[in-house]
Amino acid sequence: MVILGIETSCDETSIALLKAEKTKAGFFIESVASIVASQIKIHAPYGGVVPMLASREHAKNLDIIFKKVIREAFGSPKNLKLKIDLIAVTQGPGLIPALLVGVNFAKTLAWAWKKPIIGVNHLEGHFLSFLLEQKTENFHKIFPAICLLVSGGHTQLVYIEKIGNYQVIGETRDDAAGECFDKGARILGLGYPGGPAIATKAQKLKIKNLKLKINIRLPRPMLDSRDYDFSFSGLKTALLYLWQKLNPEEKKKLLPALAFELQEAITDVLVEKTLKAAKNYSVKSIILGGGVTANQKLREKFQEKLKKQNQPFNFYLPLLKYTTDNAMMIALAGFFNYSSLGLKQLQNLKWNKIEAEANLRL
Ligand code: KG4
Ligand code: ZN
Repeated sequence: MVILGIETSCDETSIALLKAEKTKAGFFIESVASIVASQIKIHAPYGGVVPMLASREHAKNLDIIFKKVIREAFGSPKNLKLKIDLIAVTQGPGLIPALLVGVNFAKTLAWAWKKPIIGVNHLEGHFLSFLLEQKTENFHKIFPAICLLVSGGHTQLVYIEKIGNYQVIGETRDDAAGECFDKGARILGLGYPGGPAIATKAQKLKIKNLKLKINIRLPRPMLDSRDYDFSFSGLKTALLYLWQKLNPEEKKKLLPALAFELQEAITDVLVEKTLKAAKNYSVKSIILGGGVTANQKLREKFQEKLKKQNQPFNFYLPLLKYTTDNAMMIALAGFFNYSSLGLKQLQNLKWNKIEAEANLRL
């Protein structure tokens, strides 16, 4: 079947077409066409996403992007209702003014084409994005798994028994990991989004050239706590206090070292806690998802640590283009949800049965 995916939960406007089928061996998944239009430039002057601006941009661009994706996939926009079988749209969580644009767009198409529409939890899209454009896997080898979901709005450890069966075993008590990168970058004057800015600055660190008079060591919050929760707001405050103590010359000199240490602190906690969860839950795999998993240091640390484990885990990462928000992951999650429904539930997938939900839970 062909699934149209629509994503507008935050600051990325995205449309995608995915082909997917149930097969004897499992599933066949093929990305057909997709566009992700980032609004970073619009929000950068404000140091974060402004919900009403995001909404306005989605409304302006969604239709244009839709037409481009359709042209790329089918050449002509004729008879679309014969070519598309299911509409999958991000229902939440996210910014309500932003979500509403995508959901209303999807509802209009579902009404006009008389096609089923399925609301997707954005987080499930991130959990499953590692399956996109990868070799078809035997799912028995993957699940149960622990997924570390790290984005600008969420930091969660999720036990995935199988697709569709999720249990959040830990989450952040305050800031998300991506938010800590973003706020940290703002403190250091590095701009938005903070993750890539911190990573680039951290790479510039040449320890030999630095005669550090102060000890740059940031805390690793909740590293040894018994649960699987996280807390990143204290880390950001520790960075702020350190930064405020420096004179302008020290600030300039120590900037790469501070970016490096912030990245180390965040990634140390993420890796340790994920490994702990994977061991204690005796899972087969570790899966990463969300914008922060684009971070090279995080990827490397996982790979290094996994090599040293007595107990081997399979390790799955999304392709870089599918780490941040995109509609392909929404189409994929929509497909799996659809495949699991019974006849009665399938009849309920109507345009007037779905509403955007800012705080949608799994
Ligand atoms: O998943 P995503 O696109 O949006 C949300 O659902 O929130 O994630 C965006 C987050 C931002 O906080 C951004 O700073 C972070 O992902 N990010 C990174 C990197 N690229 C994006 N963080 C660390 N290193 C990166 N290379
Ligand atoms: Zn996201």
